[in-house]
Amino acid sequence: MQSIGIDAVAVWSGKLKLDLPGTFAAVNNEDPEKYTVGLGLSASSLPDSYEDIVTMGANAAYRLLSRTDTSLSAIGRIDVATESAFDNSKPVSTYIGGCLESVMEGTVRHVDKGERKFACLSGTQCLNDAYNWIAADRNRGRAALVISTDTALYARGDAGEATQGAGAVAMLVDADPDLVAFSHERGIGSMDETDFLKPNQQFPSVDGKRSVQVYLARMREALEDFKAQTGPLHPEHFAYGPFHTPYPGMVRKAAVLAFRNTVRGTALGDQLTEEIGPQPTRAAFETEDEYIEAIRAYTDELADTEAYRRWYTERIEPTLRISSQVGNWYTSSVHLARISALLDAADHDRTLTGDRLLVGSYGSGAEAEIHAETVQPGWKDAIGSVAVESMLDRRREITFDEYERVHATHNHDSEVEMEPLTTPSEEFVFDGWGPMGERQYRFVS
Ligand code: CAA
Repeated sequence: MQSIGIDAVAVWSGKLKLDLPGTFAAVNNEDPEKYTVGLGLSASSLPDSYEDIVTMGANAAYRLLSRTDTSLSAIGRIDVATESAFDNSKPVSTYIGGCLESVMEGTVRHVDKGERKFACLSGTQCLNDAYNWIAADRNRGRAALVISTDTALYARGDAGEATQGAGAVAMLVDADPDLVAFSHERGIGSMDETDFLKPNQQFPSVDGKRSVQVYLARMREALEDFKAQTGPLHPEHFAYGPFHTPYPGMVRKAAVLAFRNTVRGTALGDQLTEEIGPQPTRAAFETEDEYIEAIRAYTDELADTEAYRRWYTERIEPTLRISSQVGNWYTSSVHLARISALLDAADHDRTLTGDRLLVGSYGSGAEAEIHAETVQPGWKDAIGSVAVESMLDRRREITFDEYERVHATHNHDSEVEMEPLTTPSEEFVFDGWGPMGERQYRFVS
């Protein structure tokens, strides 16, 4: 069977930066360590007044196509994943297609376009749609352009405000890819949940504490479903575990559960049993509460073992590198985790070809998906040209007053308008409204 996966990626960050421990915590009278230690975040990326999900998505896509010298005629579908859409009918991919046609040769007239919605999960679902389209040989030799793009803003005063972010990732999905190839197997954990939703409203209604529990429960089910297809896994079978990262502290909670699950029945598991005792089983306890208390105590002890700490430091922590500097990019967040892992491997000159990643995606509402990816021979060159750090370094740091105006400007119910804080160059910008309420865009040279 041919390998299908991600050939190349590009990132576009919102051009503003809010320092969370330094600026946001100070004004809110919070301990900065809630951010640096608890949530694991140093800053949020936020959109300037001329940026939105279309400009960020189009800019990521244009960067990707230009850098890889890919013409529009080589693209057969454009799928956009977002949970920040502003139109219930016209998909963001049509706007992005229009932007690309305005600066590139050729058209996207015979390109199938769509928009996927399932909270933060839909970027991964778009990758899977592209996989199926290519595997079914309906692509006529063309690649799929998958773009995840979000302005992840919460209502002012909501606890989620601490985890905001804005940015886009563009990915080219093709046969015989340079970066990673997708596994045929996918594990799913899905259930009707009301942890985070936007019932025809811009900012989410969130039950924050519950959302954490739902994330963990659905991830566990997805892992079980994945193992039902692959057979037992070992935590060290995977070079990295990129997970959906609403904030790094969430991944810290998920990682120890994934380790606890996959180490069972392995030699390393036997060694840990000698060190801290066996994993508690339900049968050994009279009540559910006693069992849960025992499993919590065991998990805390496991997280303190040398074996777990080394595994976490080598295989999970590197995936958090970008997220910790930009906040939650919703549909892009797991894709930033993959990019972070590959950048870490390149920085340490690791031999990664043929190694596997265990990729865990999550969307509130809720569904988790787990699949594996095999790193391809061209990975180092493909990731080396992504230049994420320079994009993050060029962000303009904003004061709290500026943050308040930026938030109000992007609030669909507010009349506030502001002058841009940065000067656009070589990028698409929002250029006002058309007669039917459509958004208009132009490229600034
Ligand atoms: N020093 C060290 N740690 C500190 C600290 C300090 N001074 N102060 C607080 N902390 C720790 C807390 O103990 C906590 O860690 P644990 O969860 O391990 O206990 C962490 O920092 C956060 O502190 P709080 O729980 O007090 O923070 P909060 O009440 O402001 O809420 C939140 C945190 C629930 C994540 C909130 O930001 C939120 O609602 N976020 C949006 C929802 C979300 O991201 N959910 C994640 C799962 S859902 C999902 O993944 C989909 C998605 O993308 C939205």
